[in-house]
Amino acid sequence: MSDLLYVNGGNPLKGTITVRGAKNFVSKAMVASVLGETPSELRNVPQIRDVNVVTGLLELHGVRVDSDPVAGTLRLDPRDVESAHVADIDAHAGSSRIPILFCGPLLHRLGEAFIPDLGGCHIGDRPINYHLDILRQFGAVVDKREQGIHIRAPRGLHGTKVELPYPSVGATEQLLLTAVRADGVTELSNAAIEPEIMDLIAVLQKMGAVISVDTDRVIRVEGVDRLVGFRHTALADRIEAASWASAALATAGDVYVKGATQPEMMTFLNTFRKVGGEFEVDDEGIRFYHPGGDLNAIVLETDVHPGFMTDWQQPLVVALTQAKGLSIVHETVYENRFGFTDALRGMGATIQVYKECLGGRPCRFGQRNFHHSAVISGPTPLAAAEIEVPDLRGGFSHLIAALTAKGTSTVRGISLIDRGYEHFQEKLSALGAEVGRD
Ligand code: EPU
Repeated sequence: MSDLLYVNGGNPLKGTITVRGAKNFVSKAMVASVLGETPSELRNVPQIRDVNVVTGLLELHGVRVDSDPVAGTLRLDPRDVESAHVADIDAHAGSSRIPILFCGPLLHRLGEAFIPDLGGCHIGDRPINYHLDILRQFGAVVDKREQGIHIRAPRGLHGTKVELPYPSVGATEQLLLTAVRADGVTELSNAAIEPEIMDLIAVLQKMGAVISVDTDRVIRVEGVDRLVGFRHTALADRIEAASWASAALATAGDVYVKGATQPEMMTFLNTFRKVGGEFEVDDEGIRFYHPGGDLNAIVLETDVHPGFMTDWQQPLVVALTQAKGLSIVHETVYENRFGFTDALRGMGATIQVYKECLGGRPCRFGQRNFHHSAVISGPTPLAAAEIEVPDLRGGFSHLIAALTAKGTSTVRGISLIDRGYEHFQEKLSALGAEVGRD
């Protein structure tokens, strides 16, 4: 299929769409299945490319994966787990960072693991130093080679005390997936406590793990000798839900997002309301709409949970181009997440990016040379343009901009969006958007 989408924008998005399980949970629960002695079953799994990538990686390691994509179920049988070739992992992983999370489970099951060079979105350096330090603390031996990183645990893995320099989501997951079967007790301070991590902890507890989440970002894990398979329904994708909410706001539309859940989105909902959007929560989902009149400029800072998610930032910035006055957005999670604003400027938005920490507390990027604050002046009409998708969330933001702009835009590199947005083209059509591929 063509990698280019035509978008004839300028009309409000109106209607109902459904979001299923969270990309950033489902992929981790799939990896967790490797720790079990019996098969697992995961439900509410979306049809996105990241799920296919992890399925491929699991199959390379001898895990049998049976999926029913329409029903959204995955059955994962890890009983014949085995080592895979580095080159195969590399070819499969593409730009995903998931392979690093296989380390703990594979070390427990096989005593060794390989990880290729890791990709991911172009939103910053995204190093893996926290992950490797954690594995070393458990007693793993890390050997960097030309083709990738070879990790062994010749004397097993032993519980340890870790304090993260920053509450990294991936590093917290790395620790959990390694500690559950390590010998003894592990304590993690400054842990990430995102809802997706809490759902992973729920999965691990179902498997037999003993994990407690204490106050002040402390997680304690008592290692156990064996884990079994789990049956679990994935929590909703709050990033996808917020992306559609921002699209509704930017296009002055009205979108009911079935499957969206309030508790995980409270911080987003507060901000949505401050900008001037309205929402109604019911048992099935959340309706997001523009009530008419002006939208309000805001001061916003991204943060780890329970703060405003970095992944919500990019779609919302497009809506802020339609708000009256000066908005300030300070990105504190990634050093380089405003690259997507270049295209918005080309479409008529007034956005300046700054190296200083604007509008909030100083963050760890303040003394370094990164454009991590943005000032958006609105409202500005957006004009149709030819744009190129830079990364997953930036790409969806470009789509929102194209939907907001009058006229026909061409959005290139659209397949990147399939990584994390299930059937987005069908959903756009269901909301009345005029979109098409060649
Ligand atoms: N960091 C390090 N060293 C490390 C790991 C992280 O310096 O070893 C830094 C990162 O460079 C970044 C910060 O710590 O500046 C936070 O990174 P984190 O580890 O929390 O992010 P992640 O686990 O790599 C996940 C999601 C991201 C999401 C972040 C923050 C997945 C697969 N990815 O990434 O999602 O933005 O947490 O919530 O779960 C997306 O879905 O588009 C996406 C990028």
